[in-house]
Amino acid sequence: MSYGISDIFGMITDMSDIKKIPAHVGIIMDGNGRWAKAHGVPRVMGHNAGMQSMKKIVIATSNMGIKYLTVYAFSTENWKRSTEEVSGIFNLIVKYVNSELEELDENNVHINIFGDYSMLPKASIDAIDKMVSRLDKNDGLVFNIALNYGGRDEILRSVRELARQCAEEGRDPSGLTEDDISRYLWSGDAYFGVPDPDLIIRTSGEERISNFLTWQSAYSELMFTDTLWPDFTPDEYAAMIEAYANRDRRFGGRKETDK
Ligand code: FPP
Repeated sequence: MSYGISDIFGMITDMSDIKKIPAHVGIIMDGNGRWAKAHGVPRVMGHNAGMQSMKKIVIATSNMGIKYLTVYAFSTENWKRSTEEVSGIFNLIVKYVNSELEELDENNVHINIFGDYSMLPKASIDAIDKMVSRLDKNDGLVFNIALNYGGRDEILRSVRELARQCAEEGRDPSGLTEDDISRYLWSGDAYFGVPDPDLIIRTSGEERISNFLTWQSAYSELMFTDTLWPDFTPDEYAAMIEAYANRDRRFGGRKETDK
């Protein structure tokens, strides 16, 4: 079954009475492989179903007025999977760009890639570059796709850059701050300038962060659901956003509501 934008709009709960919409949601889209197994189809078809789910969730995010969405599409560890599965995921990126670029543009979506995608096949790199440049002017939803991404890897990259500056520019390392490390992450001001996620959702019943936004998730609210990613609906998503509004975030201090 496929959904148009108007169907999805109708499926979303009325958000007007929800006071605390998260600015940034991160999603670990887990369970494509188990979905494929349950349906007796190859794993790549599970990822294809996952991509269909992702399409609906992107539009739902935009419709709910959430400013930033980051999805975990391919981790630095996912290279360990079979060549067939890895190239299947990369082919899906090309398919996604070909089928979704117009609709993403119509919805004013801007796309950033968190990760070094230069080692992907040329067809995938070209498709990503085309998508990123076409949507560059857009100022609606900022949709970050974590691709060849690892949380520890980006911290290491940031520390290496700061070490280089200390060595080459005579910067005193004892003066380095947390803000300096944040600056050279993919989300940092040196790259895409995206705030830390308020909420991280993981599907499929696994309750781990798995190297996703490791630094940025220090104070994120976490939500887990047993639903496999291809079965995750805009309605379940909207219910989680509603539940987020009822959580007290303390950031290590007192309640947000305490004065
Ligand atoms: C985790 O499920 C999912 C992935 C590693 C890939 C997610 C990719 C997509 C949803 C497609 C992305 C498409 C674009 C265009 C960015 P799993 O395979 O680990 O599931 P399992 O734990 O059930 O085996």
